[in-house]
Amino acid sequence: MSVLCGKDILRTDTLSDEELGLILATATRFEEVLRNGGRLTNMEGQILATLFFEPSTRTRLSFEAAMLRLGGKVITVADPKTSSAAKGESLSDSVRTVEGYADVIVIRHPQKGSAQEAADAVSVPVINAGDGAGHHPTQALLDVYTIQKEKGCLEGLTMTLAGDLKNGRTVHSLAYLLIRFGIRLFFVAPPSLEMPAEITEDLRRQGANIRESSDLAAALRESDVVYVTRIQQARFADPAEYERLKGSYVVDMGMVRQAKPGLTILHPLPRVDEIAPEVDAYEGAAYFRQVANGVPVRMALLALVTGRE
Ligand code: NCD
Repeated sequence: MSVLCGKDILRTDTLSDEELGLILATATRFEEVLRNGGRLTNMEGQILATLFFEPSTRTRLSFEAAMLRLGGKVITVADPKTSSAAKGESLSDSVRTVEGYADVIVIRHPQKGSAQEAADAVSVPVINAGDGAGHHPTQALLDVYTIQKEKGCLEGLTMTLAGDLKNGRTVHSLAYLLIRFGIRLFFVAPPSLEMPAEITEDLRRQGANIRESSDLAAALRESDVVYVTRIQQARFADPAEYERLKGSYVVDMGMVRQAKPGLTILHPLPRVDEIAPEVDAYEGAAYFRQVANGVPVRMALLALVTGRE
């Protein structure tokens, strides 16, 4: 049984190197089986509950597809407005209820720290699918898996994280994984949306090589990979502030042509207008390949935390 059996997946900075290696290797193995048309039955007889209190397309559907690909079954709350949360039920009471129905729980909730709170309330494994502006570990894992596939290896790369680094939970989780491979980082954000200082300081304490800038074109001249994110509209108290900042940077073909040759472009999606549609035809535009990698990575996570890899 693996080191991850029975564990929660709540953030990336608490994963050991061994656990990280195991997740990536298991995902690679599952992807190979799927590519060869094989069928897996690891999760037969198991039930996954997906509880999404915030919008989602990719994360929920890829978790559900992952469970089905492993021969398991899925139950879900179709719309939180129709669940007992709308009657004022606490999060811990909701998950304690769901624990009676399912073997593993995937949760997305607008409150930072909510996944930890859910995990503390139950004994089945809980996987954080995004806790407000906090963390999104499974996205970061599929991002690292994607970089490895696109670039061959992670060591020695220079990478730009661009966009709403303050409110974007994917970049918080991702930065902690990237620094383990010695990846040099540019943080490029519009003023007021910079990476939270406590995260940057924490990363630097761990030896990270980070440069902060607001000049995306200049950063891309030195970068092997750019990870573009959208401005997180739901996290703005003032709609006028969102209107002022949205569209403050756009990756288009003009910028790609000025960038380091071979630039790989990632985005957790959904995009709004930060990558021009013309870029989709560029061979380094990897964001839809990145989406597909969500399935084997989430298969690996489901199987590992339930001891069925
Ligand atoms: C991200 C999220 O929900 O944080 N989306 C995703 O899971 N693929 C990024 C975003 O919504 O901007």
